[in-house]
Amino acid sequence: MTTRYRVEYALKTHRRDQLIEWIKGLLAVPFVLYSQPTGVFETNGFSTTQMSEEAHRRYAEIMRDIEVMIDDHINHQLDVNVRVLSKLKLLVPTIGNFFTRLPLEAAFKFQDRKRYISSRRFVSPSFNDVRLILNTAQLMAVTTYGSLRLATFDGDVTLYDDGQCLEPDSPVVPRMLDLLRKGVRVGIVTAAGYTTADRYYARLRGLLDAVANDPSLAPPQRQNLVIMGGEANYLFEFAPAAPHLLAPVPRDRWLTAEMAAWPEAGIAALLDVAEAALRDCVKNLNLPAVLTRKDRAVGIVPSDPAVRIPRESLEETVLVVQKILEMSVGSAGPGSGRAAPAVPFCAFNGGRDVFVDIGDKSWGVAVCQQWFGAGAGGADGGRIRPEHTLHVGDQFLSAGSNDFKARSVSTTAWIASPAETVDLLDELADFMGKKLS
Ligand code: IMP
Ligand code: MG
Repeated sequence: MTTRYRVEYALKTHRRDQLIEWIKGLLAVPFVLYSQPTGVFETNGFSTTQMSEEAHRRYAEIMRDIEVMIDDHINHQLDVNVRVLSKLKLLVPTIGNFFTRLPLEAAFKFQDRKRYISSRRFVSPSFNDVRLILNTAQLMAVTTYGSLRLATFDGDVTLYDDGQCLEPDSPVVPRMLDLLRKGVRVGIVTAAGYTTADRYYARLRGLLDAVANDPSLAPPQRQNLVIMGGEANYLFEFAPAAPHLLAPVPRDRWLTAEMAAWPEAGIAALLDVAEAALRDCVKNLNLPAVLTRKDRAVGIVPSDPAVRIPRESLEETVLVVQKILEMSVGSAGPGSGRAAPAVPFCAFNGGRDVFVDIGDKSWGVAVCQQWFGAGAGGADGGRIRPEHTLHVGDQFLSAGSNDFKARSVSTTAWIASPAETVDLLDELADFMGKKLS
């Protein structure tokens, strides 16, 4: 049930994705002009099929126009001498960089066949329609213009329901094995921060056991799985002989050069400031929460698992803590080239809790790119390049949105549930198969 509160909450600017809203607005025009709501009762010489064909043609044209506009934006991105903003940047000021072009017309046609968007006469193309079209376009791009070498996945909500575990019978498991079988490297890049393998085994048992026991995987393919925990803080590699099938990798073997420069004192100071800010929020908002401090994170979790902290309070807490930390330490991203490294952090609403982690998923994905790219030589210091990487996650909009950060180092797909991840992986397998044949 959509309550009035939910509707109003969604209207807040920090809860809107400007690109998706803009595309939705463009598609609304042919919807208004060509949908025939009265066609259910009278045809006026315009059949249902004609209506949907006309709407399809118009929607597809718009998607092609946006595709061309993104190509132009990419040209602006690549040419450092161009000083003027792209037309897309003027229309959608929050737009970032694209690592691949996006075949939006083809992606629209694909999703229209699945979702019958053009056949609807009462419901216009929605936020979710556009989000799924963008995902499809991104999958088509990473499989068609190049090849997918690394897929990283968020944990909660992406691979399993919030706070749950990846069970052996999860439909995600065989699809991830299929990626490994095809030689794609897989990283689980989760905010869940644990220092020991047993905790990750408990959350990811279904996948780890399957990788260990699947006879069709060659031993080197099993090595193509890593877990990056605490956003960018703990790396575990798959190790068939290790207890819990995971071996922790010491930090000096995987920290990127930029990360190695983060001063320990700065990390501790940042967590101190975050802890004080979280404590203040618990007091001022009277939150039913307790504080938990780890070596690379600090958070608040419900004091009673049966109690939910109100969403407004979680969001308020994230925004307050973020502001306080930004004022006290500044921020940095991979490749930002800052001389004196500010320690980057990620404050986010996890749905039931709020955490502040050292680093964020852009660093976590970058570590996977370096780990699997080492020895590959070539450009980018042996890292797998952004256009050959896909990060799949659910947090692209809520306060702090930790998967959003991955957009600065890889292509991304935005899913809303584990069931959507399954659909996405089927689509991906389909496109990879078509390329091979
Ligand atoms: P993700 O969706 O896989 O990124 O996991 C996010 C969730 O992990 C958070 O909402 C928390 O419930 C949980 N979590 C456990 N430990 C940590 C931590 O150290 N930092 C952040 N999140 C944590
Ligand atoms: Mg998540």
